[in-house]
Amino acid sequence: PLRTPPAAASSAATAPAAPSKPRSSARVLVLGGTGRVGGSTATALSKLRPDLNILIGGRNREKGESLASELGEQSEFVKIDTGNAAMLEKALEDVDLVVHTAGPFQREAECTVLQAAISTKTAYIDVCDDMDYSWRAKAFHEEAKAQGVPAITTAGIYPGVSNVMAAELVNAARSEDGEPERLRFFYYTAGSGGAGPTILATSFLLLGEDVIAYNKGEEIKLKPYSGVLNIDFGKGVRKRDVYLLNLPEVKSAHKFLGVPTVSARFGTAPFFWNWGMEAFANFLPVELLRDKDKVGKLVEQIDPLVRAIDGIVGERVSMRVSIPL
Ligand SMILES: NC(=O)c1ccc[n+]([C@@H]2O[C@H](COP(=O)([O-])OP(=O)(O)OC[C@H]3O[C@@H](n4cnc5c(N)ncnc54)[C@H](OP(=O)(O)O)[C@@H]3O)[C@@H](O)[C@H]2O)c1
Repeated sequence: PLRTPPAAASSAATAPAAPSKPRSSARVLVLGGTGRVGGSTATALSKLRPDLNILIGGRNREKGESLASELGEQSEFVKIDTGNAAMLEKALEDVDLVVHTAGPFQREAECTVLQAAISTKTAYIDVCDDMDYSWRAKAFHEEAKAQGVPAITTAGIYPGVSNVMAAELVNAARSEDGEPERLRFFYYTAGSGGAGPTILATSFLLLGEDVIAYNKGEEIKLKPYSGVLNIDFGKGVRKRDVYLLNLPEVKSAHKFLGVPTVSARFGTAPFFWNWGMEAFANFLPVELLRDKDKVGKLVEQIDPLVRAIDGIVGERVSMRVSIPL
């Protein structure tokens, strides 16, 4: 059986572990396993724990079966559409942990995978990067706890590791310098940062969302891709322009870490991608930027160009979490 996931961003880590489903080796379903983040997760898990049965869940059989065969006999492809609740529940009946990477999480009306995980008593973790989705997921806290289901939302790199960095920083500041007044998240990703096409859709969908930030304890709404700052990311990346985006760690840092002023900014390279993002935020109709299907079509057009430019700028990612003194 798997160990209970770490408590860092958990919504139900204090609850007893879900009753294990009797079998010889644990079964992990990686939803979105045909994609970049899910595929890397499945590969890393299989190296770390070769005894696990790793199921690659997604809609693309050809891609899924190809990865499953690379991972070996312990792995197989399972056809699943996250929009189909019955299909999800059936797949989860026979699984100990589901890792949900089948984004985009923006503009999703429901947490279908989390709900199916709770009803089938399956441990759950996702790499959500959307403010609304993460808070909707947290609303299932009591239900997950009552069922004894460990569930962690928003547990990727940023948000995810960045939240843990913020918690560490706030604790250190409290023990050394007193109460931190302001916390800022800065992110830089050259090109696509090696992520799949969904990350492009995510970026455009975020341009259709007002940015929620906190100023001296007050929630404020700001314009997406505004408020540029030039931030030093240190060796290898150095100074980069970063812009406001609506990201869930801002709200959780304010609510749970208790910091009065919090914001998150993101920037990319080459510099003209930033100009493009600014232009999209300023000139494209907001209804278009909030329409998943239309954004999906836009991404199909732009993705080949982004990949070509990735070849020139590389796929570097950097994070900085800062408390100004
Ligand atoms: N927190 C973080 O640090 C972080 C970092 C990177 C990415 N992310 C998020 O992680 C997610 C995945 O990113 P990625 O780079 O892996 O994208 P990707 O390569 O495009 O992969 C997404 C995968 O999800 C699958 N999928 C989409 N809708 C589905 C559905 N309804 N049912 C089943 N499978 C479905 C896709 O399969 P099909 O072939 O069937 O379309 C695809 O394999 C994104 O939402 C992204 O924003 C978070």
